[in-house]
Amino acid sequence: MFDKNLLKGKRILVTGGGSGLGKEMSRHFLTYGAEVIICGRRDEVLQKTATELADETKGNISAHSLDIRDSLAIEETINNIFDEGPLDGLVNNAAGNFISRTNDLSPNGFNAIASIVFHGTFNMTNTVGKKWIELNKPGTILSITTTWVWTGSPFVVPSAMSKSGINAMTKSLAVEWGPHNIRLNCIAPGPFPTEGAWSRLSPDTEATGGSMDQSSMSSNPMGRVGEMSELGNLATFLMADGCDYLTGQTIAIDGGAYLSAGGTFSSLGKLKDEDWTNIRETIKKSNEKDKKMRS
Ligand code: HXC
Repeated sequence: MFDKNLLKGKRILVTGGGSGLGKEMSRHFLTYGAEVIICGRRDEVLQKTATELADETKGNISAHSLDIRDSLAIEETINNIFDEGPLDGLVNNAAGNFISRTNDLSPNGFNAIASIVFHGTFNMTNTVGKKWIELNKPGTILSITTTWVWTGSPFVVPSAMSKSGINAMTKSLAVEWGPHNIRLNCIAPGPFPTEGAWSRLSPDTEATGGSMDQSSMSSNPMGRVGEMSELGNLATFLMADGCDYLTGQTIAIDGGAYLSAGGTFSSLGKLKDEDWTNIRETIKKSNEKDKKMRS
């Protein structure tokens, strides 16, 4: 889709880069010439991913163990990374989530999510942003949120609240840090099946009408879940030069799923040709009846 050297010369840090969406975005960045640094909690997973992606893309990738709940560890890791050379981009991808009735959540349960998504993402962003401001260097931050930032979402309230906070941070800092040539945007992905998210968020029960994979496909206007390459392409576009005026935005990539819940007539997409012929006839008859009554 892009020139193979689109990201050449860029150093990009991807949090939660060892698996799921973070791994796929890293794969794309490497393919287009970036140097990628992945971080995450599980060293073994990170090392395996780094080896796999290096073999596959022949690109330059390294890994740092980091739990973004630990602000001191963030400071130390970012200092170490910048000592080797300044970053050009940060992708806030690391997250945690599980479904639960909100009235079943303890304060610790809320913190388990908020400490990663809300606090962790802010601390990563501010630590890297401060470095760029100090060095007078431009930078790009991309955060992965969800469409729940616009709609809210039941049963994942700590995540919906925390992701909404990232949305607000992105819009606020786009203005505050615009003068420093630091731009911030978000991607709000719809259903992109990954093992980590799906195993925690996809109850395969009769009451939910099967797994989230099946219900995401049948209710999606495009009739399918997202393909990783589609997300990777959007992330690559946002991390590249050439659209430096684009900042403070959140772009949904969900096949139109979240918009379809808002329209009154979205379900009519399932009607067949004969249904539409019948509807047209019914409307015509009703109009004729009205006309007769008026004359
Ligand atoms: C209710 C729960 C719970 C559950 C944990 N808790 N699971 N409460 N329902 N299912 C409560 C515990 O009882 C405890 O509170 C507190 O949370 C902390 O529990 P821990 O087991 O110590 O949690 P912790 O080790 O901190 O791990 C939580 C986690 C973990 C980090 C979120 O699940 C994890 O490692 N997840 C991997 C990353 C992940 O979730 N990926 C998916 C991201 S998908 P008490 O009061 O008992 O002490 C995503 C977007 C999806 O974010 C978008 C889809 C469209």
